[in-house]
Amino acid sequence: MTAHIGLIGGGNMAYAIVSGLIASGYPADHLHVADPAEASRHRIASLGAKTTALNTEIVEQASVVIFAIKPQVFRLVGEPLAGLFQDNQTVLSICAGIPIKRIREILKLQSNQRVVRVMPNTPCLIGEGMSCLASDQPLADDQKHALADLFASCGDTLWVANEEAIDAVTAVSGSGPAYFFLLMESMMSAAMRLGLAEPIARKLVLQTAVGSALMARDATETPAILRAQVTSPGGTTQAATTVFEEGDFSGLVDQALIAARDRAQALARD
Ligand SMILES: NC(=O)c1ccc[n+]([C@@H]2O[C@H](COP(=O)([O-])OP(=O)(O)OC[C@H]3O[C@@H](n4cnc5c(N)ncnc54)[C@H](OP(=O)(O)O)[C@@H]3O)[C@@H](O)[C@H]2O)c1
Repeated sequence: MTAHIGLIGGGNMAYAIVSGLIASGYPADHLHVADPAEASRHRIASLGAKTTALNTEIVEQASVVIFAIKPQVFRLVGEPLAGLFQDNQTVLSICAGIPIKRIREILKLQSNQRVVRVMPNTPCLIGEGMSCLASDQPLADDQKHALADLFASCGDTLWVANEEAIDAVTAVSGSGPAYFFLLMESMMSAAMRLGLAEPIARKLVLQTAVGSALMARDATETPAILRAQVTSPGGTTQAATTVFEEGDFSGLVDQALIAARDRAQALARD
């Protein structure tokens, strides 16, 4: 039997999840979305999903309820729903920085009720995301597959061993798109300083990023080997990578990811 999926919050991530599920064949009449804004409901309804302004309707109708609201409003949205969840329902949250323990407290869930935290990233909006899932209790493999499948239509998915890993995941894939955008920005500025016009700089950098990402994803070699393969001794690539190494590029990346992980941990404590 196909599960009824409910989303609380009908913003960008909800739109990406619902459109991905419908595109992959999920029956639209089994998808329910609540959002206070009529414009958001209209956008989701245009995909074929059912919409409501009442979050309680989602809890009544869906066996899997996904919280897709901003973390700042989780308490405000969750408290009126406290105690309404049944034992056979699964609660998922994509809200950054809200630990499962707090979700259980706010929604007044028992320890046997299933709660899963998911960390997606922005490329989910174009079906190329990376979503990592974690639970605070052991789940059967078929349950894990079914829950990961909800996000598979937005990109790749992965279960991590425990919720603690979600802070590291946030630092790597959650915030990761911004690191690549930063490198693209810097390369485009540098290309223009080398005399290339903006449209040319943009095209060269973006297509190089796409080509390199696809190559690294599909190759059997590691990125380190792929890099060695394009770095001839005394050549142009080596001239550039030597400058990166002298500026301790790897050390800087290390520090940046630690800072992101620490910030995720601090947000979870707030
Ligand atoms: N975007 C990403 O790439 C990304 C990546 C990882 C994690 N996340 C997480 O995903 C969550 C959603 O992000 P998003 O980008 O989809 O945000 P968003 O576009 O702002 O969507 C949130 C939606 O929730 C609605 N909302 C506000 N109050 C509500 C209420 N009381 N009941 C039901 N819905 C309510 C908002 O309506 P109004 O606009 O009218 O307030 C908005 O439509 C966030 O917690 C974020 O941390 C996002």
